[in-house]
Amino acid sequence: MAIAVALFVVIVAGAHGASESDVVQATLIVHPDKPVAVIDPDIYGQFAEHLGHGIYGGLWVGEASHIANTRGFRNDVVSALKALAVPVVRWPGGCFADQYHWRDGIGPRGKRPVRVNVNWGGVEETNAVGTHEFMDLMEMLGAKAYVDTNVGTGSPQESKDWLEYMTSPTHSALAEERMRNGRKAPWRVDFVGFGNEPWGCGGHMRPETYSDLYHRFAAFASTPPGTTTKIAAGGYDDEVAWTEALMAGNKFNDLDAITLHHYALPTGDWKHKGAATGFGEDQWISTMQAALRMDHLIAEHSAVMDRYDPAKKVGLYVDEWGNWYDPEPGSQPGFLEQGNTLRDALTAALNLNIFQAHADRVRMANIAQMVNVLQALILTDGERMVLTPTYQAFMMFKPFRGATDLAVELNTSEYRYGDTAVPALQVSAARSGSGAILISLVNLDPHHPAHLGVALKPFSAAKVSGTILTADAMDAHNSFERPDVVVPQPFRGASLAPDGIAVDVPSKSVIVLTVQ
Ligand code: AHR
Repeated sequence: MAIAVALFVVIVAGAHGASESDVVQATLIVHPDKPVAVIDPDIYGQFAEHLGHGIYGGLWVGEASHIANTRGFRNDVVSALKALAVPVVRWPGGCFADQYHWRDGIGPRGKRPVRVNVNWGGVEETNAVGTHEFMDLMEMLGAKAYVDTNVGTGSPQESKDWLEYMTSPTHSALAEERMRNGRKAPWRVDFVGFGNEPWGCGGHMRPETYSDLYHRFAAFASTPPGTTTKIAAGGYDDEVAWTEALMAGNKFNDLDAITLHHYALPTGDWKHKGAATGFGEDQWISTMQAALRMDHLIAEHSAVMDRYDPAKKVGLYVDEWGNWYDPEPGSQPGFLEQGNTLRDALTAALNLNIFQAHADRVRMANIAQMVNVLQALILTDGERMVLTPTYQAFMMFKPFRGATDLAVELNTSEYRYGDTAVPALQVSAARSGSGAILISLVNLDPHHPAHLGVALKPFSAAKVSGTILTADAMDAHNSFERPDVVVPQPFRGASLAPDGIAVDVPSKSVIVLTVQ
């Protein structure tokens, strides 16, 4: 179900004419009696690829490092990820997955072959992090493993063997090899994807070709029955032909989910995407608009899936999403390093609101990427670490995990800059397990606060509390020197009103409310 937004004009919003003190008037009706679906905690998932410092330096420093670590994984990053309770991590790629051969990453580390990471900077891949290390990290984090096997340059046999190596409870030759490599008990692989972006770096295929290949790989996926969700790589943006071909080709009911990738570029131009910091309001609003497109894309792909699968058994997994900017000046371009600001926190919240509103079909999402790459949650530099505004937005949304998404009706004016217009406010609401109503709000307008009247029908509000994420500047960010510029604060702008609550929403902010 798409987010319901009605636009009406109360003020002429934007940088032209309206003063900072103009207040956008908006109303929201939350329907506690109209549940949509349970919000799968996996929509707050992560993606960690062998790319730049996403793994090496960001997560893994090796046991001999002077940086405090546990079996090679840096303690500061692991503890920040634990605090976030990361639900699921997709690994090892991305484009990297279709050139990854799992045997390179097992056995004594000193004997593993060095390969070239051809997709990402042509740098040496030592294979120091392989299956055992990744699974160790998942156990440290208490996160589910989403392993992407190699379709592009691999074979069904290689994929099958890897899955058997990881998950077999028997004494097969592969299971014995795992035991000899130090792991007696089988691991559980909750999710397996077959290939990545088969239309591009995954092999330049046609949808029909990949659909057939998917079924060939999925047919031989050797994990214990009922333990693994099988995922087909789908299209980019509005390429619904991929979803169509995969759904039409699902004759053997061997398809549990299809992926969708969408990146938001400020300019929409892959050659000149726009800067991560120091941008103007034109790129603030264009990034918001590009992020909001996710709602429309999910609706389009869902409509195709609904024709084949009205019961919504097959999930739509947005397993790559986020903002993609020009690389940081001076960085290796293939490492996809970029800054992270308040703008990223807002677009993260917009996306999470959208996923929540589509909880009936979207049952996993993985932001790209977890550490040091693209819209990262965590940045590191040697032994230093900082949590980004995106991390803080994810923290604020924790109460929504497992809650039930509720139908909402929002009336908001537009926020306009130049020729671009977006809704000034965007929301999502849910009922938590304890019965509280959760409301997440984004004020996209960088200049104007909003007054939001919220009707909760039928619900008798006795108490409201919340947290807010905002800052003075559109590109406010946390740095190693000043890590607390954009962090959640207690929010005191919500109060009880006759049939619900009233909320004073500061400009450029994310707010999460709990109403009891
Ligand atoms: O996230 C970076 C890259 O973007 C991934 O490897 C690829 O799947 C996508 O094009």
